[in-house]
Amino acid sequence: MSNKTRSADGGGPLAIILIGASGDLALKKVIPALFALYSRQLLPDRFQIIGYARSALSDEAFREHMMAHLTCRYAPGDQCDARIREFLEHCVYIAGQYDSADALRRIQPALASLGPTDAVNRIFYMAIPPFLFMDVARALADAGLVTHKDDPGWSRVVIEKPFGRDRASSDELTRNMARVFAEDQTYRIDHYLGKEVIQNLLVLRFANLIFDPIWNRAHVEHVKISWMEDFGLEGRAGYFDDYGIIRDVMQNHLLQILALVAMEQPVSLEAGYVRDEKVKALRCVQPATLEDLVVGQYTAGSLRSARRPGYREEEGVPPDSITPTYAAAALRIRNRRWDGVPFLVRAGKGLNARMTEIRIRFRPVPGNIFQHAAGHLANNELLIRVQPDAAIAFRIVNKAPGLTIALEESDLDLQYASAFPVQIPDAYECLLLDVIEGDRSLFIRADELAAAWDIFTPALHELESHRIQPRPYPFGGTGPDAAQALAARYGATW
Ligand SMILES: NC(=O)c1ccc[n+]([C@@H]2O[C@H](COP(=O)([O-])OP(=O)(O)OC[C@H]3O[C@@H](n4cnc5c(N)ncnc54)[C@H](OP(=O)(O)O)[C@@H]3O)[C@@H](O)[C@H]2O)c1
Repeated sequence: MSNKTRSADGGGPLAIILIGASGDLALKKVIPALFALYSRQLLPDRFQIIGYARSALSDEAFREHMMAHLTCRYAPGDQCDARIREFLEHCVYIAGQYDSADALRRIQPALASLGPTDAVNRIFYMAIPPFLFMDVARALADAGLVTHKDDPGWSRVVIEKPFGRDRASSDELTRNMARVFAEDQTYRIDHYLGKEVIQNLLVLRFANLIFDPIWNRAHVEHVKISWMEDFGLEGRAGYFDDYGIIRDVMQNHLLQILALVAMEQPVSLEAGYVRDEKVKALRCVQPATLEDLVVGQYTAGSLRSARRPGYREEEGVPPDSITPTYAAAALRIRNRRWDGVPFLVRAGKGLNARMTEIRIRFRPVPGNIFQHAAGHLANNELLIRVQPDAAIAFRIVNKAPGLTIALEESDLDLQYASAFPVQIPDAYECLLLDVIEGDRSLFIRADELAAAWDIFTPALHELESHRIQPRPYPFGGTGPDAAQALAARYGATW
C-alpha cells in the first residue's frame, strides 16, 4: 500500500518454503500467484520454491500438480509453455512430517543452491491447518532454518486465518508464534486486503477532496457491508462446522473492510501508521450483542432450478449442528466521527447471489426543494463492489431528460472491467509481492487481531454456551427474515 514501485527487491536470493505444498491453498492460490510474479519479472533472479508436506511426491509429480493450476495471464500465448517450464525448474519438493526438524533440514541443499545460506532470504508460507503452525515453527527453529537478526538474509512467516477461535486462543497463538518469529517477521494474511477495490478504499477516501467532509455522522445515515455466497460447504465441512460464518468471514474480512471505511487518515502510508489507525477504529467498535445479532443456518432449497441440501444434511456436518452459516449484526462505533451511525454487516452462505460490497448511505437532503417530486426517491448512496464485478458507483438524484421536472435515480458508475482494460492482479499476487518487499501495511498486526476478536468473542461465547439455535433459511434465498427485521430497525434493507 505504500508508495511503491514494484521490483524484485534488489535481487537478493529468495527461498519460498511452502509448508503444506500438497494442499488446496498452495496449489490453487500461492503457486499461481508466484508464477504470475515470475512472469512479470517481479521475483529475484535467484529464487527457489521449496514445497514441503507429508505426501510422498517426487519433484516431477509436484511440478505436474502445480502445472494443472498455472495459467499464462501475463505471458503471451506463444511464450506460455516456455515460461511455465522455466518456472518449474525453480521448484522442488521435500516430503516430511511437520514436527520433524530432521526432515526439515533436508531443505538446506535447496537453500545452498542459491548461495551462502545465511544470505538467503526466506519466506515460510504456512499453507496448513493452524493447529500445525507451532509444530512447524518449532521444528524450523530447531533445524536452524530461521535466520537471526544479524544474518544478512531475512526470514518472514506468512500465516492464514483462522487465527484462533476467540480472543484467548488467538492471543495464545500469537504468543507461541512469537517464540520463533518476531512480530515484524509475521505476515498475517487476510486476502481481502489484497483485492484491488479494497486497496482503492484509502485512495478513494484520502486522495479525493469530496468524500472527507461528508464521511461522518452528520452526513452518513448507515453503512452496510455484505458478503454473500451462493454455494454451501464445497467439501469443507470439517473446518467450517468448527468455526462458522462469524469466525470465517465476519471477524476477519468484514471487520478489516469496516476498519478501512471507518478509520481516520493515517500520518502516511507507512505500514505502522495505517495499522495504528485501523486498530484505533476497531477498538472503538462496541462488542456485538445478541440483541443486535441474527444467526441463521440454511435448510434445503433450490438455486437456479437445482435442489440443494440443507446444511445439516451436508456430508460431515452433525445432524444437530448449531453452526451459523449466516450472520447479520448492527455494530456501533463509539467515536466522534461515527457515534450513532449503524454499521450493518452480514455474511452468508447458500444465498441467491455471490457478492461482496459496501454501501454508504447518506442522509436525506435537508430542506429539499424537490421534495414533492423526490419524496419517493432514495438518498445518495456510494456503492463499492468488491466482487464479482468490481465497481464504484454513486447514486444521485437526476432530472429525467424532458420538458417537465421529473426526477430519477441515476448512478455515476465506474465499472472496473470497462474502465481499466488491464489484467487486475489477484489478491495473492499483490500480497506475496508485499511479503517479498517487506511491506506490512496490508497484513494484520497482533493488536489489530486482538481488537477484532474483542468485537465478536463475547457474542460467540454466549451463542455457544447457550446453544442458541440459528434461524433456518432456505438455500437460494436472501437469508433469515429476522436479518431483514434487524436492518429495518436501523432504517435499512439488505
Ligand atoms: N484454501 C483456501 O483457499 C484458503 C483460504 C483462506 C485460508 N486458508 C487457510 O490456509 C490453510 C491451508 O488451507 P488448505 O485449504 O490448503 O488446507 P488443506 O488442503 O486442508 O491442507 C493443506 C495440507 O496440509 C496437510 N494437512 C491437512 N490436514 C492435516 C492434518 N489433519 N494433519 C496433518 N497435515 C494435514 C495436507 O498435506 P499432507 O497430507 O501432504 O501433509 C494438506 O495437503 C488453512 O489454515 C486454511 O484455513 C485456506
